[in-house]
Amino acid sequence: MSRALATTFNTEPRILPQGLDPMRLPRHVAVIMDGNGRWARQRGLPRMMGHRAGVEALKRTLRLCNDWGVGALTAYAFSTENWSRPGEEVTFLMTLFERVLARELEALEREQVRIRFLGELEELPEGLQRLIADATDRTAMNTGIHFNVCTNYGSRRELVRAAQRLACQVAAGTLAPQQIDEAAFAAELHTAGEDDPDLLIRTSGEQRLSNFLLWQLAYAELHLTDVLWPDFDAGALERALLDYQGRQRRFGGVQTQP
Ligand code: IPE
Ligand code: IPE
Ligand code: MG
Repeated sequence: MSRALATTFNTEPRILPQGLDPMRLPRHVAVIMDGNGRWARQRGLPRMMGHRAGVEALKRTLRLCNDWGVGALTAYAFSTENWSRPGEEVTFLMTLFERVLARELEALEREQVRIRFLGELEELPEGLQRLIADATDRTAMNTGIHFNVCTNYGSRRELVRAAQRLACQVAAGTLAPQQIDEAAFAAELHTAGEDDPDLLIRTSGEQRLSNFLLWQLAYAELHLTDVLWPDFDAGALERALLDYQGRQRRFGGVQTQP
């Protein structure tokens, strides 16, 4: 299916807003989806309703990114620290992930989304693990946006795991310590094969990384917004992309003349 056809499915095609330069879009956007609980509290609702609304915001953002030509979207759905939340909330989130994945898989396939889940997946409920394996397999050959869902993800764990995997190769005699360079290290991360994010968005006014992609975000541009995640919409994404396009990325070099 062509990209144009894929993106017209089920809804009107969304055209890149005027003012955004299609040639200077971030190839990879990462997002810390924060503020579901506060969104619910503002409405006198239980936190769970905020998570439900958060799923709608994620679906919206994925479609917009796909339509506007962003190559990859990596979303932080559940951190290794989020297990410390009340058991009721953790159980609700795991069930929500299962339901949404089961319900949305066909649409993801049709829209040519390639979905992957990044994190310590073997610690997730078995039903969810099965759905994840199925969704990953069924969308692996898709040609549209790369959609990475960080689930039971923690960057420090990911880095330790990479170090262990490299150490095992050295111990087995298949790798010399001198061969461990940045590329070899990146190849052992959950994000292996994906370019580093160009833009990180964090919603809800928080200004921290919360153990997200510590290696990969080394040179990402940061867009921090007060918008609560369930309210994140086309306008909010457009503002983030405009903010990004107004930056000059130098990667440690000097400013180039216009
Ligand atoms: C983000 O929203 C969703 C997850 C971490 C699963 P929060 O649940 O952290 O919402 P706040 O920060 O309490 O508002
Ligand atoms: C980060 O949000 C994790 C996810 C969005 C999944 P948190 O709400 O858990 O982060 P902190 O606790 O405010 O740092
Ligand atoms: Mg939060």
